[in-house]
Amino acid sequence: MKIFLDTAEVSEIRRAADAGLIDGVTTNPSLMAKVAGDGDPQDTFMAICDAVDGPVSAEVVALDAEGMVEEGTRLAALADNIVVKLPLTEDGLRACRALTSKGVKTNVTLCFSAPQALLAAKAGATYISPFIGRLDDIGGEGMELIAQIRQVYDNYGIDTQILAASIRHPLHMVESMTIGADCATLPPKVLYQLLKHPLTDKGLEAFLADWKSTGKEL
Ligand code: E4P
Repeated sequence: MKIFLDTAEVSEIRRAADAGLIDGVTTNPSLMAKVAGDGDPQDTFMAICDAVDGPVSAEVVALDAEGMVEEGTRLAALADNIVVKLPLTEDGLRACRALTSKGVKTNVTLCFSAPQALLAAKAGATYISPFIGRLDDIGGEGMELIAQIRQVYDNYGIDTQILAASIRHPLHMVESMTIGADCATLPPKVLYQLLKHPLTDKGLEAFLADWKSTGKEL
């Protein structure tokens, strides 16, 4: 299962990539807005693509298919590892089909139902991003959506990759892994929560105390 970092903070991406913890990055316009400052967004995307050896999702902001294709083509030209992220709308799927036919990789985002995921796959999406946390927020069952899409894609031999998104806590990750999502994108906080276990810390403390009691050096 591939793990992506859901941020546009280049320092966070470098830290996780250098530790070998991530296989790629996802961004969205809200995450890009957080790091916008006075800089050029294209420079930010290029710095991210340079920091990680894997796919980097860069989202269009046009609402019409023609504008999305134009933005997506420019984004894809920035680096070999750019994946163009498109909203799950009629225009988004038109743009997905057009960009796919040009060999551009795509990530169809803001997916909240299994039929939407089927339509995105039929438009040629490389990745589909179902949003778990945002469904939970409105009283839905985010994990149920991941399971449904897995079942639909398996039923019909669809190779669009399921990218579990809007992950808010480690349990979302555990369930996505067991259901068989192909990838998950995590905010930095959740990524580092995955590393931690109280018994790891306790065990390490006990090992070191026992070793120290010998007075020897390694
Ligand atoms: C994924 O592509 C999105 O950027 C992200 O996972 C959204 O997460 P949120 O619902 O926590 O904003």
